[in-house]
Amino acid sequence: MKLTDIYWHLRSDISKIEKEIEKNIDAEHPVLQEASSHLLKAGGKRIRPVFVLLSGQFGNYDLEEIKRVAVPLEMIHMASLVHDDVIDDAELRRGKKTIKSKWDNRVAMYTGDYIFAKAIEMATHSKRLEIHHVLSDAMVEMCIGEVEQIRDQYDWNQNLRMYFRRIRRKTALLIAVSCQLGALAANVPREHEIMLRNYGYYVGMAFQITDDILDFVGSEKELGKPAGSDLAQGNVTLPALYAMHHDDGMKHSIISLLEDREINKSEMKTIINGIKASGAIAYSKDIADKYIVKSKEALNDLPDIQAKKALIQIADYIGSRKF
Ligand code: IPE
Ligand code: IPE
Ligand code: MG
Ligand code: MG
Ligand code: MG
Repeated sequence: MKLTDIYWHLRSDISKIEKEIEKNIDAEHPVLQEASSHLLKAGGKRIRPVFVLLSGQFGNYDLEEIKRVAVPLEMIHMASLVHDDVIDDAELRRGKKTIKSKWDNRVAMYTGDYIFAKAIEMATHSKRLEIHHVLSDAMVEMCIGEVEQIRDQYDWNQNLRMYFRRIRRKTALLIAVSCQLGALAANVPREHEIMLRNYGYYVGMAFQITDDILDFVGSEKELGKPAGSDLAQGNVTLPALYAMHHDDGMKHSIISLLEDREINKSEMKTIINGIKASGAIAYSKDIADKYIVKSKEALNDLPDIQAKKALIQIADYIGSRKF
């Protein structure tokens, strides 16, 4: 099943959210305008708004209220991608040139900041103070997560704890908050709001682990960027950590690759094959699956409505997604 099939019934609300984002990033300055819409038009799964919409269905679903949190959340995600591509020195995103490569790092910095600021502006339409607390807290944590990634870049002595802490901050929390804010915007009872947040957290952990696996096993066409990008950028993710701990030969190859910093395609291919052969993919997949199981358990005591089924299907989709 495709992701879009799971939320087929939400497509008209999703497209309203997209229109609102487009309206929101409309900038007076031509460079900001072009750069922001370049990213928006490149697409994206819009999975965070989907989590908002589905969580909102556990309460009084009012699209206007929902939009006030879904739009800022997707924009915060977009802004973080613009900055992420600076940190990761990435050339391609969603199959298109990144802003930092089409323009430069400075344009990317300001475009990211601009989209962040616009997200906050949109969020001010929500009157509930708690929404602002939750949103700003997530932004702070995400920034710390990305800074931690800079700190941990090229560090082959890092441990699993550091990896999990990093992905919790840079990815899982925003997804947790997407579920929580959908619940808050629809006045879902507090206990259900917490369950939805927990679901989002576990799904978010699995989401990033899967993203990190795909970076090794996906093709350039599927990924919209070359395979092995994470390692090439000095980002040591779960499969690489596993391979380094379980295979001395791989440890040497990865360290010399990280030390070199100039990697050709065939060296990368050898490393990718080595990582696959080490059992690292199966190990990482197993951890992602455990998070998926936990995410579904978090939904146990929620009412059995259609949205719950969709959340379960999305969790399963994330556990098995190919790109
Ligand atoms: C990419 O997120 C960054 C991660 C947190 C792994 P998505 O995979 O949701 O990116 P788009 O929005 O669909 O491009
Ligand atoms: C997720 O990490 C980035 C953010 C949460 C901002 P990645 O660096 O793995 O994301 P991609 O793979 O570039 O989309
Ligand atoms: Mg990146
Ligand atoms: Mg990154
Ligand atoms: Mg990635």
